[in-house]
Amino acid sequence: SQRTLVLLKPDAVRRGLTGEIISRIERKAGWQITALELRTLERATLEQHYAEHLGKPFYEPLVEFMSSGPVVALIVEGERVIEGVRQLAGPTDPIAAAPGSIRGDYGVIVRENLIHASDSEESAEREVKIFFPGRG
Ligand code: GTP
Ligand code: MG
Repeated sequence: SQRTLVLLKPDAVRRGLTGEIISRIERKAGWQITALELRTLERATLEQHYAEHLGKPFYEPLVEFMSSGPVVALIVEGERVIEGVRQLAGPTDPIAAAPGSIRGDYGVIVRENLIHASDSEESAEREVKIFFPGRG
């Protein structure tokens, strides 16, 4: 089985959508939430997390947005959970995301797209260490 690092972004917390999003993850058979914390992220944490996007035009606004309020960080474990949570989330751009997906149902613009989920086993292990160093 796999684990993945999920962030419910500041827009999800501000809009009161964390319960709704967590429900969608939680009711999936065979998946378990094994860590969950509400936390305001330090810039240094975000720089680590988004290192691959350094230098891109959306990088600064993204880091700014992600530190604009608390996020909910989770570890979710289970069968094919990396692919599965990204499937629940839908594509990065909410306009391209189908109804029924989290971003398709609630997303507004590409930066404020409610949820982050690791995109590979390598990313998941890297990101779990950043947000939950004790779970490395
Ligand atoms: P995450 O799960 O958050 O990593 O999203 P993703 O994997 O679907 O997208 P990616 O890793 O490519 O980008 C990380 C985040 O940067 C996205 O979730 C968006 O919030 C933001 N982002 C990505 N591409 C763009 C873009 O072209 N414009 C803007 N404004 N933001 C972007
Ligand atoms: Mg990504």
